[in-house]
Amino acid sequence: MRRVKVDLGNRSYEILIGENLDQSIEDFFSGSKFSKRSLVIVDSNTRRFFADHDGFECYEIPAGETSKSLKIAEEIYTRAIELKLDRKSPIIALGGGVVGDLSGFIASTYLRGVPFIQIPTTLLAQVDSSVGGKVAVNHRLGKNLIGSFYQPQAVFIDLNYLKTLPDREIRAGFSEIIKYGIIYDSKFFDLLDENSDRLLNLDSELMEKVIARSCEIKAEVVSKDERESDLRRILNFGHTIAHAVEEETHYEKFVHGEAVAIGMIAAARISKDLNYIDQSTADRIEKLIRDFQLPTSTENSCDPDKIYNALFRDKKTIGGKINWVLVNQKIGNVFIDNEVPESVVRSAIESII
Ligand SMILES: NC(=O)c1ccc[n+]([C@@H]2O[C@H](COP(=O)([O-])OP(=O)(O)OC[C@H]3O[C@@H](n4cnc5c(N)ncnc54)[C@H](O)[C@@H]3O)[C@@H](O)[C@H]2O)c1
Ligand SMILES: [Zn+2]
Repeated sequence: MRRVKVDLGNRSYEILIGENLDQSIEDFFSGSKFSKRSLVIVDSNTRRFFADHDGFECYEIPAGETSKSLKIAEEIYTRAIELKLDRKSPIIALGGGVVGDLSGFIASTYLRGVPFIQIPTTLLAQVDSSVGGKVAVNHRLGKNLIGSFYQPQAVFIDLNYLKTLPDREIRAGFSEIIKYGIIYDSKFFDLLDENSDRLLNLDSELMEKVIARSCEIKAEVVSKDERESDLRRILNFGHTIAHAVEEETHYEKFVHGEAVAIGMIAAARISKDLNYIDQSTADRIEKLIRDFQLPTSTENSCDPDKIYNALFRDKKTIGGKINWVLVNQKIGNVFIDNEVPESVVRSAIESII
């Protein structure tokens, strides 16, 4: 079992990573000052992980992104009021990023904030969405537009959940893991490079190490910049083009991690075209993405002009300036460049179409 501390002053908390964490979870609850009654939020695929316990009520939402809505949130508030949940009643997210973001949003708003605990069950949620404190629901006009920053009191990452997760979701999680290597830690990138097969087979020892390091990197970035001014932007590596690809394929053709893989290839290409990195570095990035069986192009499903125009609708594009996260000199080192010429962007887009 490994522990990662997220350092945020009096809102600091721990992430526990390992197998069979039930006992640790029980100890955490018995050592806490929570009310006896709590609400566990699950979706239709993670309901089976909920075991009946005195005082723990379960609320099931339909699996899928559309559940991250104010409508579902309102239904859950109603349940919480009916159950007379009070200021010390924890909300527990048992599921992927959808359950996590929605539960966190509810925890941050119900009675102006109640304790929040994350038990992420997808690889993406374990290495990304459960760390960092961003919580949100979607609006009809865009994703994650209604939300806040709200830190959990603890995160329990149990590797056992990954056993039932579809392969495609596993690979999508690795896309964000690869991202951490590229933006922050070249040794970590090497570790992934040397062990892609063992990792894709979910070797427990390695998975524990890799998930812990991913959480550590995200936690470090977030501790230094909780509310996304500058440093936190590096987590957006590959995401500018990814969001455009997701939008242009109507969130149907690719899951998020796959779009990020394509976006990281484009970002590496821009870095290479501007001579920030050499060809062999760009090739290494592309090779690792291939090794994890992630897509490297949109397979002719997108129009390059539409992708280009979509870049300016991204919520992280401010005043028409795109903050490109680019690799600088070597893997493990990135910086922000908001002056990339249109021709370079267009040629990167062409290359991933
Ligand atoms: N808050 C953040 O910082 C942050 C970061 C990245 C992504 N996100 C959000 O996360 C969401 C995506 O998260 P996700 O990829 O986990 O998607 P998800 O929650 O929809 O889970 C993917 C699918 O796997 C199923 N599932 C979950 N756990 C399972 C298990 N152990 N076994 C079998 N099936 C299981 C789910 O029911 C769902 O069908 C998006 O809404 C995105 O906006 C948030
Ligand atoms: Zn992402």
